[in-house]
Amino acid sequence: MDFNLTEEHIMIRDAARDFAQTELLPGVIERDDKEQFPTEQIKKMGELGFLGMMVDPKYGGGGMDAISYVLAMEEISKVDASCSVVMSVNNSLVCWGLEAYGTEEQKQKYLTRLATGEIIGAFALSEPEAGSDATKQRTTAEDKGDHYLLNGTKNWITNGNSAEVYLVIAHTHPEKGHHGINAFIVERGMEGFEIGAKEHKMGIRGSDTHSLLFTDVKVPKENRIGEDGFGFTFAMKTLSGGRIGIASQALGIASGAYERALQYSKERKAFGKEISRHQAIAFKLSDMATEIEAARHLCMKAAWDKDQHNNYDLSGAMAKYYAAEMAMRVTTEAVQIHGGYGYVKEYHVERMMRDAKITQIYEGTSEIQQIVISRAVLRD
Ligand code: CAA
Repeated sequence: MDFNLTEEHIMIRDAARDFAQTELLPGVIERDDKEQFPTEQIKKMGELGFLGMMVDPKYGGGGMDAISYVLAMEEISKVDASCSVVMSVNNSLVCWGLEAYGTEEQKQKYLTRLATGEIIGAFALSEPEAGSDATKQRTTAEDKGDHYLLNGTKNWITNGNSAEVYLVIAHTHPEKGHHGINAFIVERGMEGFEIGAKEHKMGIRGSDTHSLLFTDVKVPKENRIGEDGFGFTFAMKTLSGGRIGIASQALGIASGAYERALQYSKERKAFGKEISRHQAIAFKLSDMATEIEAARHLCMKAAWDKDQHNNYDLSGAMAKYYAAEMAMRVTTEAVQIHGGYGYVKEYHVERMMRDAKITQIYEGTSEIQQIVISRAVLRD
């Protein structure tokens, strides 16, 4: 077993770190405050290859492994989780889903532009009444011969108003349960497709989250992904990889908050010495460092499984479950270590605490990960 990163991994990690420090850090507080989508920053991320990292170079991607992706996600998330969620959805859900299951024509038409960041994508599964229970899709896609007629509403869609391409999950044969679900490529601007209200969120406020409304949208047959009825499996398989992305996001948010708390604790004095020299603080830092390292190992193991073509449903769910819970604990402690300063915006950690919360909710809540993990454990 070799825990060393390769030279290439170190290069990618350092490039992501430099980019985050120089391009994302300035303005991150303001973007969060104003709920401002990081348009310029995302454009640059595309130019640097961060939006299609694992895609085959023949489709415009970076051809990198999942370990590289975890390393870059951690560095970007340390500074700006609003940018890293765009990155995660585009890489893990949209690009991966299309590359793994799209036709050559779909890849040429959409993946090539998504992988370079020329456009970004969104993944539309959640509905007002189908969040965790994803089989209960109300959106319908009626088979009309040469096209499908799409009707319904999607909620909480990341990149909702900034995407050009949406992977939409809908029921074609409700009588067949989840075997009657399909996934479709829907383009912004198709007649009958409207972007709904923007959500005003607790965290990741720079990312844009919207509802989507479909009224008799004609989706060409060639825009279906996979065989008829493949949509639920498509969503589950895609989300398994997505969970590695969000686990790395949680890891990054936690390590960003930890680094700030560590630095602050060495500068701030109370009761005659730096607060890091009080055991009450030193022990908090020791716990934070240990938990972050544990989460990093879980993320790396899941990424390694993916790179080895092992099944990563379980390792991805474990990584996401642990990293998200850990991020909430670590960011809360980071605020505590900062005292009153931690509660105000200038010190960044209050934003990180708010951002950490979503990692326990999206791409499957912590409880969903517990379902996936407990089923695997009980099956053994
Ligand atoms: N890979 C392939 N197939 C899978 C699978 C996987 N990882 N997980 C389940 N399936 C298949 C099962 O094999 C089964 O197929 P068969 O009937 O043919 O055997 C089918 O899917 C149904 O499986 P279950 O009976 O296990 O389904 P369930 O209803 O009990 O629930 C669940 C499974 C894991 C809870 C699932 O519903 C789930 O993951 N829910 C959470 C959904 C989610 O993550 N939503 C996030 C929204 S996207 C988002 O947040 C993106 C964003 O914007 C950031």
